[in-house]
Amino acid sequence: MTAFHHQPPTILALDTSCDDTAAAVVKGRLVLSNIVASQTQLHRPYGGVYPTIAKQAHLENWPATVELALKRAQLAWSDLDALAVTIGPGLAPALEVGVTAAKQLVADHNLPLVSVNHLEAHAWSALAMAKPKNWRKLIVMELEKLSQFPEPTWPILAIVVSGGNTLFIEITNFGQYQILGQTLDDAAGECLDKVGRMLSLGYPAGPVVEEFAKLGQANKFKFPLPMTASEDFNLSFSGLKTHARNVIEKLTQAGKLDQAATYDFCAGLQTGVFRHLAHKLGKLLAQRTETGGPFFSEVWLGGGVAANMTLRQTLRAALKPFKLKLAVPYSQRLCGDNAAMIGLIGALKLDRGLIETDPTQLERQPRLILGV
Ligand code: KG4
Repeated sequence: MTAFHHQPPTILALDTSCDDTAAAVVKGRLVLSNIVASQTQLHRPYGGVYPTIAKQAHLENWPATVELALKRAQLAWSDLDALAVTIGPGLAPALEVGVTAAKQLVADHNLPLVSVNHLEAHAWSALAMAKPKNWRKLIVMELEKLSQFPEPTWPILAIVVSGGNTLFIEITNFGQYQILGQTLDDAAGECLDKVGRMLSLGYPAGPVVEEFAKLGQANKFKFPLPMTASEDFNLSFSGLKTHARNVIEKLTQAGKLDQAATYDFCAGLQTGVFRHLAHKLGKLLAQRTETGGPFFSEVWLGGGVAANMTLRQTLRAALKPFKLKLAVPYSQRLCGDNAAMIGLIGALKLDRGLIETDPTQLERQPRLILGV
């Protein structure tokens, strides 16, 4: 049994959900190209994403991004089986650009259109596969074998940790999702970015926090463990942010926020944020073991913060007592916003006939959720 019922299709995918214009070509789960035109430099002066600037940059960037994705995949429009586009969740003006472009492209090239939930794509991103160097020389059967993936043993636990979302998702089949826990306020990446801003680390601060943390000692600054009294698996990062603000203010007033203290603080912050995730994850798995419900066969990690090595180590340590493995995206580019993950879901949806019956009616859904 495989996840694809037919031949794995070739999909061109487009994602303009936030501040990256992304286009990719996939064959099934095999990533043939994955182009991301980043707008980070444009938004940096604002310390966050500025929607009107994002929209303008998407409008300017999408045609070249799409062309480059096809070129890198060494394919033509006639080689494609469908086009997939992110419809949400995300910034409305940014999503609008991708959806409008997709409608135009499917009309021009006579292709089916598949709409994709950005969160669903992050949840499945660990299953994407890198193309081998010699992929053009492979015989059809070999290529098809690579682009297939075995039907997972359900249920799967997916953890999405990004700048906009932090979620524990139970997947019982393709398209069947239940949110087991999520952040009640800031997302984990948002917390790192906001505290990083207080430390003048630039935007986005998450990757800088990771680099600085390597130079510091995590035990110099201890962060509280949030929501220990709650029995559910929801998360909250705003208390950590407030704690960080208070400590930074005190250090600044005392003239003690030097470089060494900043490194130590980043190490402590990262530990605090990831400890909270690991604690709730452990609680979730322990409860599942006690109630004797169907246990997860695997854990998939996705989202921008999934690029962080300390997060991976922390989650792996939490999974060890339950003998669970953590699957992570094969490259950093697949962690942050990208279109290869959109293509992967597009391929699975096309395989199941889940296409837009009237593409002209497709609308962006900025507040799209996952599951019920
Ligand atoms: O998935 P993503 O690109 O965008 C959203 O959909 O939110 O995630 C961006 C987030 C930002 O908060 C960024 O600071 C964080 O991911 N991030 C990291 C790292 N790389 C990106 N956080 C910690 N360590 C990293 N290496």
